[in-house]
Amino acid sequence: MKKLVNLTINGDSIEAVVKENLTLLDFLRDQLLLTGSKKGCEEGECGACTVLLDGKPVNSCCTLAIECEGHEVVTIEGVAQNGQLHPLQKQFIEKWALQCGYCTPGMIMSAKALLDVNPNPTELEIREAIEGNLCRCTGYAKIVEAIQATAAEMKKEGLIYA
Ligand code: FES
Ligand code: FES
Repeated sequence: MKKLVNLTINGDSIEAVVKENLTLLDFLRDQLLLTGSKKGCEEGECGACTVLLDGKPVNSCCTLAIECEGHEVVTIEGVAQNGQLHPLQKQFIEKWALQCGYCTPGMIMSAKALLDVNPNPTELEIREAIEGNLCRCTGYAKIVEAIQATAAEMKKEGLIYA
Protein backbone atom coordinates (compact mmCIF):
# COMPACT_ATOMS: atom_id res chain seq x y z
CA MET A 1 0.00 0.00 0.00
CA LYS A 2 1.33 3.46 -0.93
CA LYS A 3 0.74 6.84 0.65
CA LEU A 4 1.37 10.47 -0.16
CA VAL A 5 3.84 12.13 2.18
CA ASN A 6 4.73 15.81 2.50
CA LEU A 7 7.81 16.84 4.42
CA THR A 8 10.72 19.23 4.39
CA ILE A 9 14.19 17.92 3.67
CA ASN A 10 17.17 20.23 4.00
CA GLY A 11 14.82 23.20 3.62
CA ASP A 12 13.07 21.90 0.49
CA SER A 13 9.41 20.92 0.50
CA ILE A 14 9.05 17.39 -0.79
CA GLU A 15 5.89 15.58 -1.85
CA ALA A 16 6.22 11.91 -2.70
CA VAL A 17 4.29 8.69 -2.95
CA VAL A 18 5.95 6.03 -0.83
CA LYS A 19 5.27 2.49 0.34
CA GLU A 20 3.90 2.46 3.88
CA ASN A 21 6.82 0.36 5.06
CA LEU A 22 9.57 2.40 3.37
CA THR A 23 12.15 3.59 5.85
CA LEU A 24 13.26 7.20 5.88
CA LEU A 25 16.79 5.95 5.16
CA ASP A 26 15.73 4.12 1.99
CA PHE A 27 13.56 7.06 0.97
CA LEU A 28 16.53 9.41 1.30
CA ARG A 29 19.05 7.14 -0.36
CA ASP A 30 17.04 5.38 -3.06
CA GLN A 31 14.32 7.86 -4.00
CA LEU A 32 15.99 11.19 -3.34
CA LEU A 33 19.57 10.01 -4.01
CA LEU A 34 20.77 11.62 -0.78
CA THR A 35 23.33 8.94 0.00
CA GLY A 36 25.23 10.80 2.71
CA SER A 37 23.24 9.01 5.42
CA LYS A 38 24.87 5.60 5.64
CA LYS A 39 23.31 2.18 5.85
CA GLY A 40 25.00 0.10 8.51
CA CYS A 41 23.13 -2.30 10.75
CA GLU A 42 19.57 -1.28 9.75
CA GLU A 43 18.57 -2.22 13.30
CA GLY A 44 19.06 1.01 15.23
CA GLU A 45 22.41 -0.07 16.66
CA CYS A 46 25.17 1.79 14.81
CA GLY A 47 23.92 5.35 14.22
CA ALA A 48 25.42 5.54 10.72
CA CYS A 49 22.00 6.56 9.37
CA THR A 50 21.42 9.41 11.87
CA VAL A 51 19.48 12.43 10.59
CA LEU A 52 17.71 15.24 12.41
CA LEU A 53 13.93 15.07 12.66
CA ASP A 54 12.62 18.41 13.91
CA GLY A 55 16.09 19.03 15.29
CA LYS A 56 16.42 15.74 17.16
CA PRO A 57 18.73 12.93 16.08
CA VAL A 58 16.95 9.76 14.93
CA ASN A 59 18.01 6.54 13.28
CA SER A 60 16.52 6.91 9.82
CA CYS A 61 16.67 3.12 9.36
CA CYS A 62 14.09 2.77 12.15
CA THR A 63 11.87 5.66 11.07
CA LEU A 64 9.23 5.25 8.40
CA ALA A 65 9.07 7.87 5.68
CA ILE A 66 5.33 8.26 6.30
CA GLU A 67 6.04 9.06 9.97
CA CYS A 68 7.78 12.22 8.75
CA GLU A 69 4.57 13.69 7.32
CA GLY A 70 4.59 17.42 8.10
CA HIS A 71 8.00 17.28 9.75
CA GLU A 72 11.42 18.68 9.00
CA VAL A 73 14.36 16.43 8.19
CA VAL A 74 17.97 17.56 7.95
CA THR A 75 20.61 15.24 6.55
CA ILE A 76 24.37 15.58 6.25
CA GLU A 77 23.82 17.12 2.81
CA GLY A 78 21.98 20.01 4.48
CA VAL A 79 24.52 21.15 7.08
CA ALA A 80 26.89 23.13 4.85
CA GLN A 81 25.63 26.64 4.15
CA ASN A 82 26.30 28.95 1.22
CA GLY A 83 28.97 26.60 -0.10
CA GLN A 84 30.81 26.62 3.23
CA LEU A 85 31.33 23.47 5.26
CA HIS A 86 29.74 23.47 8.69
CA PRO A 87 32.34 24.12 11.43
CA LEU A 88 31.86 20.49 12.55
CA GLN A 89 32.79 19.26 9.09
CA LYS A 90 35.85 21.50 9.06
CA GLN A 91 36.98 20.39 12.50
CA PHE A 92 36.48 16.69 11.73
CA ILE A 93 38.91 17.17 8.84
CA GLU A 94 41.27 19.40 10.84
CA LYS A 95 41.48 17.08 13.85
CA TRP A 96 41.68 13.83 11.86
CA ALA A 97 38.42 12.68 13.43
CA LEU A 98 37.70 10.17 10.69
CA GLN A 99 39.42 7.23 9.08
CA CYS A 100 37.11 5.17 6.86
CA GLY A 101 34.45 7.88 7.29
CA TYR A 102 31.48 5.55 7.37
CA CYS A 103 30.31 6.74 10.78
CA THR A 104 31.09 10.39 10.09
CA PRO A 105 27.79 11.69 8.65
CA GLY A 106 25.80 10.21 11.52
CA MET A 107 28.37 11.35 14.05
CA ILE A 108 28.21 14.91 12.73
CA MET A 109 24.41 14.93 12.84
CA SER A 110 24.40 13.83 16.48
CA ALA A 111 27.05 16.42 17.32
CA LYS A 112 25.09 19.12 15.50
CA ALA A 113 21.94 18.24 17.44
CA LEU A 114 23.92 18.69 20.65
CA LEU A 115 25.61 21.97 19.72
CA ASP A 116 22.34 23.44 18.43
CA VAL A 117 20.88 23.25 21.95
CA ASN A 118 24.05 23.23 24.05
CA PRO A 119 26.82 25.32 22.49
CA ASN A 120 29.15 24.76 25.45
CA PRO A 121 28.99 21.04 26.27
CA THR A 122 31.19 19.17 28.70
CA GLU A 123 33.19 16.17 27.48
CA LEU A 124 30.67 13.91 29.20
CA GLU A 125 27.77 15.62 27.42
CA ILE A 126 29.58 15.17 24.10
CA ARG A 127 30.22 11.49 24.77
CA GLU A 128 26.57 11.01 25.78
CA ALA A 129 25.38 12.77 22.61
CA ILE A 130 27.36 10.40 20.37
CA GLU A 131 26.85 7.24 22.40
CA GLY A 132 24.47 5.87 19.76
CA ASN A 133 27.04 6.38 17.00
CA LEU A 134 29.53 3.55 16.70
CA CYS A 135 32.99 4.08 15.24
CA ARG A 136 35.22 1.08 14.57
CA CYS A 137 38.26 3.13 13.56
CA THR A 138 39.10 6.17 15.65
CA GLY A 139 38.75 5.29 19.33
CA TYR A 140 36.48 8.37 19.66
CA ALA A 141 39.13 10.69 21.20
CA LYS A 142 39.67 12.66 17.99
CA ILE A 143 35.92 12.88 17.44
CA VAL A 144 35.38 14.37 20.90
CA GLU A 145 38.29 16.75 20.27
CA ALA A 146 36.74 17.88 16.97
CA ILE A 147 33.40 18.57 18.62
CA GLN A 148 35.08 20.50 21.45
CA ALA A 149 37.07 22.52 18.90
CA THR A 150 33.87 23.27 16.99
CA ALA A 151 32.15 24.52 20.13
CA ALA A 152 35.14 26.76 20.86
CA GLU A 153 35.29 28.05 17.28
CA MET A 154 31.57 28.79 17.10
CA LYS A 155 31.73 30.63 20.40
CA LYS A 156 34.69 32.70 19.25
CA GLU A 157 33.19 33.54 15.89
CA GLY A 158 29.67 34.02 17.24
CA LEU A 159 28.52 31.55 14.57
CA ILE A 160 25.01 30.19 14.55
CA TYR A 161 24.33 27.30 12.18
CA ALA A 162 20.77 26.39 13.11
S1 FES B 1 21.88 1.77 9.96
FE1 FES B 1 20.53 2.79 11.26
S2 FES B 1 21.29 2.49 13.25
FE2 FES B 1 22.61 1.31 11.97
S1 FES C 1 35.91 6.46 10.93
FE1 FES C 1 35.56 4.37 10.35
S2 FES C 1 33.81 3.83 11.50
FE2 FES C 1 34.31 5.78 12.25
